[in-house]
Amino acid sequence: MSAEYHAGLDIGASAVKCVVAVAGENGEPVFSGLGASECRNSVRDGILVDMEGAAAAAARAMEEAEELCGFRIERVQLAVGGAHVRGLMGTGTIGTGSMDEPGVITEKDVAAALEAAGSIDLPPGSMALDRITRDFAFDRFTGLSKPPVGLQASSVTARVFTVYSDRVPVENLIAMVERTGRKVEALVPSGLAAGASVLSADEMDLGVVLMDIGSSMTNLVVYRDGGPMHLASFSMASDHITRDLQRLRLSWVQAERLKVEKAAANDRMSSPNLVMNVPRVGDRGTLQISHPLVTQVVSQRIEAICEGVSQEIRRCGLEPGDLPAGLIITGGGSRTRGLLETAAAVTGLPVETGYPRANEVPTEILRTPEFAVAAGLSVLGCGRGRRHGRGMASGPKKGMLRRVRNFLDTLK
Ligand SMILES: Nc1ncnc2c1ncn2[C@@H]1O[C@H](COP(=O)(O)OP(=O)(O)OP(=O)(O)O)[C@@H](O)[C@H]1O
Ligand SMILES: [Mg+2]
Repeated sequence: MSAEYHAGLDIGASAVKCVVAVAGENGEPVFSGLGASECRNSVRDGILVDMEGAAAAAARAMEEAEELCGFRIERVQLAVGGAHVRGLMGTGTIGTGSMDEPGVITEKDVAAALEAAGSIDLPPGSMALDRITRDFAFDRFTGLSKPPVGLQASSVTARVFTVYSDRVPVENLIAMVERTGRKVEALVPSGLAAGASVLSADEMDLGVVLMDIGSSMTNLVVYRDGGPMHLASFSMASDHITRDLQRLRLSWVQAERLKVEKAAANDRMSSPNLVMNVPRVGDRGTLQISHPLVTQVVSQRIEAICEGVSQEIRRCGLEPGDLPAGLIITGGGSRTRGLLETAAAVTGLPVETGYPRANEVPTEILRTPEFAVAAGLSVLGCGRGRRHGRGMASGPKKGMLRRVRNFLDTLK
């Protein structure tokens, strides 16, 4: 049997994740494959720093996904994230008459307004990743989702959100994927991919912020009136917490364990009388570390990340009240204990963890916040509705599920 498929590939600073979905009858994703592979020191802030290491991890993740879905992945939708990925809202207006003598808006006028709205002068060395049509307006009517073709007006306006990136980091990522024998069929900003898998259309309409806290970077998208209006990325994420804890004289492994098993990002969750014995870096005996100290270190970093969110909201000219659907957090960093409370206190928004939405999954691992980006890439691919005749998914293989699960256990 043949069906179209869409494979999402997310090259993270701690792991490569791959998710495969086959498009259902109405373009809805039917997830059929998933793979993950540890990838340390190959990507930093979304930028490739080790071609061989990343290619090997990407190949492993795709091979795992292939075992589950039962066919070879030839093409992938690739996530692109980091401070080199930015977004700009452009506006284009075409005159169609005057207030006294309005003319009828034609499809050609709308196309010209869209063209003007999307023709932004990008900085040298950058490339457009996506041009998202946001809305239309004529005379005093704004925020229209449909082009006002056939109506009389003095002008028609279109708004287009252009997402662009520095060219070289993207070309390096594409070359890395090609080294694994696969092609890149689409480039998608990480934040938009995460949003596609965890947010509902109503949330995007109402106003919501999506924040993906990974290992090395935090990507953020502000949505309003049904689409994205602002992208941001900071080089501060969960690995920075591990590094902060390391300064207490711990090895990376011990600091990571302390973060995952004991740390909290909220004073209310600190145990005032708890003192932990932790091996000191370099096999130099044991350190006694109080839980309130660990909580203080983690809270400071989480507060700094959340203050970054507030800053970006202000940069959009918005207040927390303009984003009633709140802040939805994905990525492994979203598992930090006490994060939701601290994020709510700092940003003034209602906060929740974002889990990929799916009716059926090949494994429950897909419904974890780490997989939001990879799952969203497949969701967007299915939505685009391209047809590629490929083998249909077969059932999940038990041994494979165990391997993916074992891998995820090493992350926690
Ligand atoms: N229970 C937990 N508490 C705190 N942090 C956690 C927990 N589980 C995982 N993490 C952290 O989540 C991070 C991995 O998340 P994720 O897989 O989203 O990152 P990534 O996509 O590889 O990185 P990036 O997006 O920065 O390239 C690691 O820093 C890991 O320590
Ligand atoms: Mg990530």
